[in-house]
Amino acid sequence: MHVVKERTSFLLFAYLSQFISVASVADIVIDANGKFFNQSIFETLDIIGLKQCVRECQSRDDCKAVNYKRDDLQCQLLWTSASNSLELQINDKYQYITMESQTTVLKKCTTSCKDRRCVRLSSGQDYCVANSCPVSHRMNKALKFCYLAVEDRDNYDFTTGMAHCRNIGSRLAVLPTLDYHWYLYGDIQNSLLQNNKYRVGGFFNVTIGEWQWIDGSLVFDTIDRTLTDVNDDEGELLWHKLAIFRDFDIGRTERLLCERII
Ligand SMILES: *[C@@H]1O[C@H](CO)[C@@H](O)[C@H](O)[C@H]1NC(C)=O
Ligand SMILES: *[C@@H]1O[C@H](CO)[C@@H](O)[C@H](O)[C@H]1NC(C)=O
Repeated sequence: MHVVKERTSFLLFAYLSQFISVASVADIVIDANGKFFNQSIFETLDIIGLKQCVRECQSRDDCKAVNYKRDDLQCQLLWTSASNSLELQINDKYQYITMESQTTVLKKCTTSCKDRRCVRLSSGQDYCVANSCPVSHRMNKALKFCYLAVEDRDNYDFTTGMAHCRNIGSRLAVLPTLDYHWYLYGDIQNSLLQNNKYRVGGFFNVTIGEWQWIDGSLVFDTIDRTLTDVNDDEGELLWHKLAIFRDFDIGRTERLLCERII
């Protein structure tokens, strides 16, 4: 009896969450968990959800960032954002979120997206994203490579990973040359990346019999396959600190690298 009940509520949950994910707009990008900016608070809103808090800020011209206090559902609107993370104070009750990191809803791509880039999200809706690398991301100027590591390892297979990156105005990362590999390698050495492997936007395309990036280019046109640990002609691509790339089975979940095109 107990089992049946649990199963029913699970199904109900699965059923409902389908609608929730369809109804939700872009995913909120948190710039810093457990931190807040202790300056330039100009308004405080109480009993408000995280998404609504971000929306309230986006609807005010001068709002650049928010501190969100989960336990109290409190939203502090800020008229400046921190110029670097050292300016933030540590407090595990807070999340710090800048508007620059968010995608914003647009009615139509063509009407207004000035100084920004228009993207179509997995929901089919058009959004405007900043044309610069958000402060939550890492940027290599020489490569023009702007990326965000998503450290949640349980939730993202290829499809859900693609959708998540798209919902934050990005795509699964494309790493066309070894320079990208060495840049990420350096970020691990400098403790800017927490793990030594991440899913990237490569897969084995069975139609053409080639390893391909999601932008259509071929992985081993520009990188010597024998340097990598890609042994089988099937599955998906993992970036790996030591192996450069590895193949892994379709459907497995992994951490992600999302790339913002700028
Ligand atoms: C920052 O926080 C401290 C204590 O947490 C407080 O005394 C100070 O007034 C705050 N500064 C600003 C500018 O709000
Ligand atoms: C595989 O390659 C073919 C030919 O270029 C292309 O039409 C197809 O979309 C690719 N498959 C995927 C899943 O992208």
